Amino acid sequence: MSEQLITTDRQVDVSQCFNPQTGTLQRHIFTDEAIYQQELERIFARGWNFMCHESQIPAAGDFFMNWIGEDEVIVVRDREGKINVLLNSCPHRGNTVCRAEIGNTRSFFCSYHGWNFDLDGRLVGMPGEKEFYRDEIDKSVWGLSPAAKVESYRGFVFATLDPSAPALADYLGWVGRLGIDFLASKGELEFLDGVVKNRIQCNWKLAVDNLYDWYHVKVSHGTALKLGLVSDAAMAPMDQMVLLGELGHGIGGPGISEEKFQDSMRRLQAGEPASVWYDRNVADRMTGNMIEELGPVGKRSFGHPNIFPNLWVALTNQLCLRIPRGPFETELWWFTFQVNDEPEERRKFNLFMANHVFGPAGILEQDDGENWSHSTRGAKGAFGKKLPLNFAMGKGSDRMEADASGQSRIETVVNEHGQRWTYQAWQEWMQADSWETLLANHSQPPQGDC
Ligand code: FES
Ligand SMILES: [Fe+2]
Repeated sequence: MSEQLITTDRQVDVSQCFNPQTGTLQRHIFTDEAIYQQELERIFARGWNFMCHESQIPAAGDFFMNWIGEDEVIVVRDREGKINVLLNSCPHRGNTVCRAEIGNTRSFFCSYHGWNFDLDGRLVGMPGEKEFYRDEIDKSVWGLSPAAKVESYRGFVFATLDPSAPALADYLGWVGRLGIDFLASKGELEFLDGVVKNRIQCNWKLAVDNLYDWYHVKVSHGTALKLGLVSDAAMAPMDQMVLLGELGHGIGGPGISEEKFQDSMRRLQAGEPASVWYDRNVADRMTGNMIEELGPVGKRSFGHPNIFPNLWVALTNQLCLRIPRGPFETELWWFTFQVNDEPEERRKFNLFMANHVFGPAGILEQDDGENWSHSTRGAKGAFGKKLPLNFAMGKGSDRMEADASGQSRIETVVNEHGQRWTYQAWQEWMQADSWETLLANHSQPPQGDC
């Protein structure tokens, strides 16, 4: 039905939940049901949500199921080759019309009373159209509801439920686009069949906040470090770089100076063995024309990008979606890619990393998930939820350096700039009643001292 609208009548005032000056955050944002409902409307329904990679649904009738907040959607390629994103909810009684996670079909048949929908969502038939409906039902208005907009960036498909959302490339801005470029510029990507899914008893924002967190590594992952499964220098380097983009996008984590980058490149080109932690990262950047595509600053960043609100582009050739399942639960979806024509040895290494670093079997995520769930638990109690959290690290101690290329960045040590930027953006998204208000009032990334 075309009458679907983004409703904005519900409003919880969250303007005091995060103080960007002090870096203090109110914990109830992780557990309050009304805040969660507002997130579904003002963040997930409004924003651009990652759906899938185009290569996952190459043929007509190929579909992949995903979520926009708690709305399940069918991402399906129709006979004209167009990708449609349709609400998986029959307009008759609301039943789902697709129960598979992935597949190929000629149409979507509702298992309740048998309404049948074409690949573009049109209602094309139903039992008893003549006998029971007396040929009076207007099928043209009772199709599956489409997302307001569907667009791709370098093969990565996104959708929004808000017709007034800016174009995807504008929404991503240079930081969001750079985050995807980290993966897309490696070459032609091949999606490895199977999305690894697991649930963690945590609020989705804690999982997002953690990807900028390089403070926890030596403590949370101490066992992995002690066992030598991951190296101390590579996992917790002092060199850090933070890039902040409009609307909450960011990249945070390891990053090296131009001098170190050049030195590493020179040694690698001379055939010297890797001797410092970033040599492997620099070697990765020397493939194809990645260095030119990522730009003079982007090429030196090995941090974690978050495409606001919930898409992490991991250095392991993976994407991780953090899908909310109520305030207390998050579903993590791991998409793994391989780069065509990559040497066999590197493919094997990447696959090993994809299975053993993150995801439910990953040595790191098991540590992380437990901490996120206990942090969520700590925001539930009548006493605990009233107490603030501290996100002050690095506040006022660093500097956003402009760059002639436009790639401004903070080069520093371990910090919490990315987390503060995320919660500030979250607050602005939650306070705005429309895209117009959000675009008029959102913060620009800091300049100079920050
Ligand atoms: S709910 Fe789908 S046909 Fe009735
Ligand atoms: Fe971690």
